[in-house]
Amino acid sequence: MNKRTSPIIIGNWKTTPATLSLAVKFVKQLDKKLEKGKIKLSKKSYYLAVPDIFIPTLKEISGGYIGSQNISGVSLGQTTGETIPSQILSGGADFTIIGHSEVRARGETADDRAHKVALSLQSRLTTILCVGELVRDKEGKYLGELEDDLKQSLLLVSKNLFENLIIAYEPVWAIGGTTPATPQECFEVVIAIRRALASLVGIDYAKKIHVLYGGTVTKNNAKTFIEEGDVDGLLIGRSSQDVETFEEIINACHSA
Ligand code: PGA
Repeated sequence: MNKRTSPIIIGNWKTTPATLSLAVKFVKQLDKKLEKGKIKLSKKSYYLAVPDIFIPTLKEISGGYIGSQNISGVSLGQTTGETIPSQILSGGADFTIIGHSEVRARGETADDRAHKVALSLQSRLTTILCVGELVRDKEGKYLGELEDDLKQSLLLVSKNLFENLIIAYEPVWAIGGTTPATPQECFEVVIAIRRALASLVGIDYAKKIHVLYGGTVTKNNAKTFIEEGDVDGLLIGRSSQDVETFEEIINACHSA
């Protein structure tokens, strides 16, 4: 696995848009705009994490990668209301997000997360694992806590499956607000994340695992995280839900 030269730009649509026809319209508009844009983009220049029910249709028409925002860590069988990795994959998903702070806030435990990540990677689904502190303390204890959180989430994963893993650093205090982390703050956490990964898979391999930033990414700050924050891409909520803004971010980051 090589360090990517082109950035990984992931839109997290959450519970938007309201209908499948709006989602189809968005993706068609986005692809048209990207095609007409000044920058020559590689074939798949964006990822969209969408409501599960939209995956098969969007996968058919989209020029990007389509994935889900969560999966279940239970195995095939008698659990009501859950969707497991093999089902998401067979519906056409290219990837899934796991451990988003909004899912954690609804009761996802470290144990749930460890099972989800293991099952997802065993199914060869590209897995975007989110980590991020609730608040920062002056002594920097949160860095150690983030490393522990990451190691716990990866507890059940064998080394040979890390290839399809991507880490998204999403400070919870920066999500859905107005103040993002600074690229410098991001840079420091990327080092801590790589340190935790190195303890699991060795430094050379850890260096190659892609790390993203998420939390109040806008068209004005997107590029700075890639240029100064040492991340390989972005996980974007609100700014991915407006077609013009998302297109501007994709183009800006590919010209970084
Ligand atoms: P935001 O959300 O970009 O709207 O802050 C990020 C996320 O929840 O992944």
